[in-house]
Amino acid sequence: MGGDDGPELTGFTGISMPTDTSERWVIEGKALEDNLKGLGYDVIHHNAKDVVEDQISQIQSMVDEGVEFLIIAAIDNKSLGQVLADAKDKGVIVISYDRLILETPDVDYYASFNNYQVGVLQANHIIDRLGMRENPGPFNVEIFSGDLGDNNSQYFFMGGLDTFESFIYDGKIVIPSGQTEQSPTSTAGWSGDVAMERMNTLLADFYDDLELHAVLSPYDGISRGVVQALVDADYEPGTDDFPVVTGQDAEAASIKAIKDGTGQTETVFKDTRLLASTVTDMVEALVGGGEPEVNDLGTYDNGFKFVPSLLLDPVDVTAENYVEVIVESEYLTEEQIDAGEALSERPRRTGVTAPSRSERGRVPSGPGRAAFA
Ligand code: BGC
Repeated sequence: MGGDDGPELTGFTGISMPTDTSERWVIEGKALEDNLKGLGYDVIHHNAKDVVEDQISQIQSMVDEGVEFLIIAAIDNKSLGQVLADAKDKGVIVISYDRLILETPDVDYYASFNNYQVGVLQANHIIDRLGMRENPGPFNVEIFSGDLGDNNSQYFFMGGLDTFESFIYDGKIVIPSGQTEQSPTSTAGWSGDVAMERMNTLLADFYDDLELHAVLSPYDGISRGVVQALVDADYEPGTDDFPVVTGQDAEAASIKAIKDGTGQTETVFKDTRLLASTVTDMVEALVGGGEPEVNDLGTYDNGFKFVPSLLLDPVDVTAENYVEVIVESEYLTEEQIDAGEALSERPRRTGVTAPSRSERGRVPSGPGRAAFA
């Protein structure tokens, strides 16, 4: 397709986003749609709002409408085999967006961030902030991980745990709950409320006579749930006694807490504008009869094959660099941060263009597969 033998591609694309409770997906769905329409392509765009069956039927309807490309961020990475088999029969090119779709041969490309590195950055924030290299500890830490149906969760989790490993071995990090496997630490639907409940339970069960020093949290919405539970248990934000809490996605409410010192002290910024423009470039390259740019062929095994991937760099954000990384890049204004405004509710900014291909971060390769065995 797009080459000498297949029919001419017109760029007709179906976009399938997973949820509207985590704000990034709303923005990226819209950005992808705008980018592709800007190239003159027809676009259908659905958000499945956390309902797996709806995502399947929305994808099926887009296939039936005759899309040539599917850009999919899956709710449940193992649920799409059948609908993608049908898409493949009809010649649709499938791009797995941010989250790898598993157990199907019918995924052509994957675009995401170096997900393992996200966990490394989060764990290193805790290690640095508590001065674990200099201080004997022990430090009491609890671990939260993401939804089990999301392939990214294991990468965030392993990046964090691998980074903690030598400190756990040395006895500097203690995990009083003993919950160090992915499943018991997971957070269904990436939900802040679910995380708050689990933190309440952990505090009640294990911290009667113990101080908690840090919580490794994989996502800002989860972090805010954790912080709420800590505040309810009388930990005082802004004091040295408040546990170090990490996060991901640079959501305005979390950047506000980082800036004001009212809870979470770190987030990992993934410039989703770049991801959306990268995937737009992939579609454009294929429509033009070329091959999309990828930079990793050997990390993301979906159970059938290593999916050719393009991975961007995540960036660690704290009170020290949020102005440079978040404000100066025009991801959020200070006003939006101060308002703790959800990105999905803010008016669309005009005149902001995604950085060019040459300005984008690139990572040479992801972690070895052994890390995930
Ligand atoms: C994404 C994260 C996001 C999480 C919850 C993951 O798949 O990579 O950026 O925080 O989903 O929406």
